[in-house]
Amino acid sequence: MNNHNEVRMLEFPEKGDKRGRMVVVEGMQDIPFEIKRIFYIYGSDSEVVRGQHANRKSEFVLINVAGKSKVKVLDGLGNESIFCLNRPHTGVYLPNMVWKDMYDFSSDSVLLVLASEHYDADEYIRDYAEFEKEVIKTVKKW
Ligand code: TYD
Repeated sequence: MNNHNEVRMLEFPEKGDKRGRMVVVEGMQDIPFEIKRIFYIYGSDSEVVRGQHANRKSEFVLINVAGKSKVKVLDGLGNESIFCLNRPHTGVYLPNMVWKDMYDFSSDSVLLVLASEHYDADEYIRDYAEFEKEVIKTVKKW
């Protein structure tokens, strides 16, 4: 596994046979954390932008198990990356303290999200200026 804190694409092995395909992901093996929560997002149309928050604690892996979407990740220091999620055997790893927008959902998109933490509304930062402020505070500690 790479640097734990790096935003990156993950490739999962596909287990296929004549009956069809299967992808298996296991916590601490294919996913760089123990999985405590899963949720999935579907029925969002192409105009919708979801996410628009950062998490102080949670890490995530996002997998479009059907259809496609994009995720834009911002580090609060001026850097951004866009990932296209369009294959069920790839995902994107998002560490804590990154801002994320999910958008461009296809009508058949099912976006599976694996999370390292149980849901806690208080660890979400939903204001971008507040996110930047907290990032800069962390950087200044170095
Ligand atoms: P929200 O975080 O806005 O979704 P997204 O990240 O896709 O934009 O969540 C939508 C609603 O669902 C919000 O009221 C919080 C609630 N929610 C939970 O109760 N538990 C969860 O695990 C998640 C992800 C959301």
